[in-house]
Parts: sequence; structure tokens; C-alpha cells
Amino acid sequence: MAFWAEKARTLLDWDTPFTTVLDDENPPFFRWFTDGRLNVSANCLDRHVAAGRGDKVAFHWVGEEGERRSLTYSDLLAETQRLANGLKGLGVGKGDVVGIFLPMIPEVAVAMLACARIGAVHNVVFGGFAPSAVRERMEVSDAKVLITVDGARRKGRTAAVKEAVDAELGDLKTLERIVVVRSTGVAAPMLEGRDVWYHELCEQADPVCPPEPLDAEHPLFILYSSGSTAKPKGILHTTGGYLTGATYTHRLVFDLDPSSDVYWCSADVGWITGHSYIVYGPLSNGATSVMFEGAPDYPDRDIWWKIVEEFKVTIFYTAPTAIRTCIKWGPQYPGRHDLSSLRLLGTVGEPINPKAWLWYHKVIGGGRCPIVDTWWQTETGAIMISPVPGVTSTKPGSATTPLPGIFPALVSEDGEPLTEGTGILVITKPWPSMLRTLYRDDERFVQTYFSRFGPNVYVVGDAARLDADGYFWIIGRIDDVINVSGHRLSTAEVESAIVAHEAVAEAAVVAQSDEQTGQAIVAFVTLTGDRVGDDATVAELREHVATRIGKLARPKRVIWADDLPKTRSGKIMRRLLRDIAEGRALGDVTTLRDPSVMAVLAHKIVESDPDE
Ligand code: WTA
Repeated sequence: MAFWAEKARTLLDWDTPFTTVLDDENPPFFRWFTDGRLNVSANCLDRHVAAGRGDKVAFHWVGEEGERRSLTYSDLLAETQRLANGLKGLGVGKGDVVGIFLPMIPEVAVAMLACARIGAVHNVVFGGFAPSAVRERMEVSDAKVLITVDGARRKGRTAAVKEAVDAELGDLKTLERIVVVRSTGVAAPMLEGRDVWYHELCEQADPVCPPEPLDAEHPLFILYSSGSTAKPKGILHTTGGYLTGATYTHRLVFDLDPSSDVYWCSADVGWITGHSYIVYGPLSNGATSVMFEGAPDYPDRDIWWKIVEEFKVTIFYTAPTAIRTCIKWGPQYPGRHDLSSLRLLGTVGEPINPKAWLWYHKVIGGGRCPIVDTWWQTETGAIMISPVPGVTSTKPGSATTPLPGIFPALVSEDGEPLTEGTGILVITKPWPSMLRTLYRDDERFVQTYFSRFGPNVYVVGDAARLDADGYFWIIGRIDDVINVSGHRLSTAEVESAIVAHEAVAEAAVVAQSDEQTGQAIVAFVTLTGDRVGDDATVAELREHVATRIGKLARPKRVIWADDLPKTRSGKIMRRLLRDIAEGRALGDVTTLRDPSVMAVLAHKIVESDPDE
């Protein structure tokens, strides 16, 4: 425990120093630094300004159409204070939930920090999600205020976000106010008395808002993530432990020197990677980062590398799926630019295949940059297993070994510890940035993570292999979660979206391995009555899923089924569907109620395979 106490003390500023490091009286409800008080926004902003680093750039922001905007620590602090006061004026207080549904614009970081400053709990929804997903997340978290935008730009087109938000959330009683950032200038309906412009709110607000000293265990944010049922899990992180984890790992894993590095994480703030490694980790460390609004192929496929060259990025952190896309586009795009400023590369979100690792190392890193393959989750809050640059020797495809302070292990199905081979990944000791619970659902929290091997063993949900050198090789999820381009989606969530379509009787969704996206969604669908499945229906279903969840969740393939393989008790046997989707020989079908269902399905999939 001395280890984490030292990290928390040296890396963060505390209003009230803690005396208790870990309270493990009531596992799995672990509590860290309980009697300490601090404020996250003060650690991310005020302390840097107070130390004379106010003019240092926090974010070099690059917009979709090539706009540039640099925000210093002083700029961020000033805007955060105004928005914090503005939110207070709207009645937001300590512990109130504030939804944030914004594109990658600087206001997204300001919104998060303003919440942290006054002890409001933010609930960011990825900008690529559909408004109905926003509604669900606002509803279950009882969000009082939502901060959103007039419109969002994507590759030359503008989507009218506020209008869509109104259509979905307009009648949500618990949502009292909507704050709207004017970003694109697209028409946005404003409801008198409920809606307020972000810039007007900030202009009218008092410029000084002292940071509220908060208990270390005060909730900082909720972030919804997919689990094995249709209902997303509201993963809850708290103040002191989370910031300790994000700050410590960002510094260690990226070998960060805040005085000279230019750091860029290409994720979206709407995911945990953006929370920990665009906003909280880098700002708490006082780093200079790049924030990019756009798509990697707009206006051209070299935009990322153009940005690296222009800002002399030294550390670059992205996802394997993006690297695979770059491989497909070809080395001529990075080849157009001088990437010699880069000195460290990172990946996150899914296993990286050795081929992509080697390409990243050679083409992007010029053969000289170490690669940190970082394994972690929304639940862990911060990186858990990763090489430490200059210390750990890497093996392409392995996240290597746990960071100091982290104790993962591999166990068999029965919970027997394994020293080598394949098994279930667990973490055997609590760590400061671990999730505290699922928002308003302690029971599901215990059930999901701490029931299989008792309240002291965190069950990750991934399978992994441990080699003779003690290196971890992450295999993938063992629950019904699909990892598409490093984004988590639950089969049940996608299924319920498909079934909501009037033509659909039943649906089963499985993952298929995919060269581009890691995994892709395959949907087996039974239609109602005498509806016949044709290409138009496929397009309709894909669109339907896009509007209910988001484009990411659209099935890559739809396979029409007269019936789905079920056990005698009526459970859909996904294992068999996976075998079919991936073209494997069928496993045991004797437990099926009607084994002939499989032969028909196997035949159908061949017919609809786009590559055939
Ligand atoms: C997977 C993203 C292999 C894993 C930070 C995990 C990885 C899930 C890696 C969490 C990696 C993440 N190698 N697999 N380096 N990083 N994963 O919550 O299955 O969106 O459980 O957090 O992504 O996804 P999440």
C-alpha cells in the first residue's frame, strides 16, 4: 500500500491529505484515500497555472476543416471556471449528473472539468452514438442537465445534433436544462426556459469559481459500457483513486516529459481512453496534447501524419484497427510527411496482430520508436498491463507484463492459478482507479465482476495466455461482448435493436473475426409472417440499428434464418452460430431441440457471404 500512497501523494495536490490508503473492510466495495480531499480540475489546471505554466499549451486543437486553435492552461482554467459557475446557476450541485454529448471540440474537455470543479458527476456519451442511446443513458442516470452541440461535422457534412436530441429527449422529465455549444452554426431549435447557449451562459457567469474540495471517494464520472445484457453498465469512477491511476500510468507508460513532449491520443473523448488519456492523465501531468476533431481520411488519408509533422508529435497513441486501415491504404500516406519527431507509439482497445505491430514499428515509428501495447478497460480506469519503455522488452502481439502495483493472474475455469497456458484473466488485488460500482446497481456490480471467484478477485471478462516468460497475451472477451474496431458492443444490445424492427421475429448476433475491424457483427435474423429477406431489408435493418445505437453497431452481415438453433430449454446456441459465421466445422449439435436447423443455416451463410 505504501506504493500507492506514495504515488497519490507525489503526483497529486490534496486539500486535505489522506491518512487511510485502502479501506478493504467491505469487499468488493474497496475505497481509497478515504479521508483525503482534493479537486480534479484543480489538479488538472490551477496547480499548473500557479506554478507559472499558465501559458503552456494544453491542447493544440485541429478542426475538421483545417481550423487550428491552441488553448493554454490559463485559457482552459478561465473557461472551466465560467462554465462551472454557469452550471451552478442552472441549479447543478454536488452529486448531480450532467450528460455530455459533444464532438471532439475543446468544449468537451471544458465541460468535463467544469463538472469536476463543482462535484457534479459527468456522463459522457460518445458523439457517434444515436440520440436514442443518449436518451437511455440520461434516463437511467437521472441526468439533470445535458451539454450538447448545434451540429457535428463529419467529412464535409454537418449533422443537426440539437434537433435530433430534441426529437429523442424532448419529453424527458428529469432533464431540466440543455446547454448548447454553437459549433457549426447549423440551425438549432432552442426551447425558451429550458435551453441555453453555452457561450451566453459562460459570458454571463462570474469568472471566478474556486474548486470545491471533494472527498477522495466523491463520484467523478459515470461512463456507460456494454456488458452481456442489453442494458449498458454505468461504470462509476471516483475522484482520488481514478486521478492517481490516470496520472501515474500516463506518465510511466508514455515515458512522459511534460516540458518537451507533444502527445496525441487519437481516441474519442466519449470512450474511457479519451477520459483517461486525452483529458485527465495528460492535463494532470501538465502535458501538451493534440486534439483532433476529424476523420483519419478527410480531407485526405494523410491527415494524421500531416498533424504529426506540423505539431512535432513525440508520442502517438491509437488503436490496432486504425493501424490496419492505414496498412490497407498503403505506406505512401505516412510517406508524404516527416515523422521523425515521434519517439514512442502506443496501442489500445484490442489485441494487435504481429503484422500490424511490425508495420506500425517500421512505417510510422521508423524502426526507432518503442511500442507500448496497453491492456486495460473502462472498468480499470487506467492501463494495467503494458510494457514500460526502456524497461520491458517487447514481443509483438503481447501487452507484456503488469505495471508496478497491479496484480493480474490467470486462472482455470475452476479458479486454479495457472503459471502458463490459456485461462481466465483476473486481478487479485484492488487498485486505486478501479470502478467503484455500477451506477445505482451494486448487485449487478458484484454479480458481474466479483461473484465467480469471490469478492476479492476481479473477473476481467477476457481470456488470456501466459507464456513461459510471464508475458500476457490477451485473447479476447469471454462474455457476450463484441469488440468492433476496439469499441465494445453487447450482442444483447444489438439483438434488441434488431428485434425492435417490425419485420423481425427473432435475432441472434455473434462476432466473426474480421481483418479490418478485429471482430465484425453477424446477425442471424428470422422475419415475421411471410416477409422475405432481400437486400432492401438488409439495408433497412442496418439503418435501423444505426439510428437506435449508432453506425458502429450495424451488422456487417445479415443471415436470414427460418429458425435459430436452440437448446431444449430454448436458449439460443451462439457457439454454433459463431462456428457457422467463421466457417468452422460444426461442434456438437445433439443438445439442439431441432438439429436440422443447423444444416439449413450453414447452407444460407455460404449464399450470403459477400466474399464468395
Ligand atoms: C480489449 C478500452 C488486447 C479487452 C481501454 C478489454 C485489449 C476491452 C487491449 C476493454 C489490448 C483493450 N490488447 N485487448 N491492448 N486493450 N482490450 O472497456 O477485451 O472499451 O476487456 O476499454 O478491450 O474495452 P474498453
